[in-house]
Amino acid sequence: MKIKVINGPNINMLGIREPDIYGHTTYKDLVETIQNYCKKSNIEVDIMQSNHEGDLVDMIQDCYNRYDAIIINPAAYTHTSIAILDAAKAVNLPMIEVHISEVDKREEFRQTSYIRQACIKCIIGHGINGYLEAIDTLKELIEK
Ligand code: DQA
Repeated sequence: MKIKVINGPNINMLGIREPDIYGHTTYKDLVETIQNYCKKSNIEVDIMQSNHEGDLVDMIQDCYNRYDAIIINPAAYTHTSIAILDAAKAVNLPMIEVHISEVDKREEFRQTSYIRQACIKCIIGHGINGYLEAIDTLKELIEK
């Protein structure tokens, strides 16, 4: 099983950005935690981050025929990007949307998610543990 984890703008600023909302875990910690978790479960994983919408579209398109599933935190592009939704629909792979913070309890503009309609599950407000829960769900789905 091979999965890609795609992170949108400012996720690389974890640990620095608004720690009261996103916690103190750094992006490096996040990457290492996911890598270690996948290693234990015998899952191949590539973890990526970009601040640019088109890069995120490319990262999704590149999964076609190469990955079994995608975990995505499109960050602010969650709430705006039809291009990312269309890319997800195009590759048609099992995809899980993850948000570190409780987006559902924050500003009104964060209540819209375009990517959600292409996702089999959405994990909100579980901190970086949300990524690990997404891995468990995909493992169960794909390795069954
Ligand atoms: C986020 C929530 C988004 O609203 C925000 O723009 C982010 C991070 C989260 O993981 O909680 O950058 O996706």
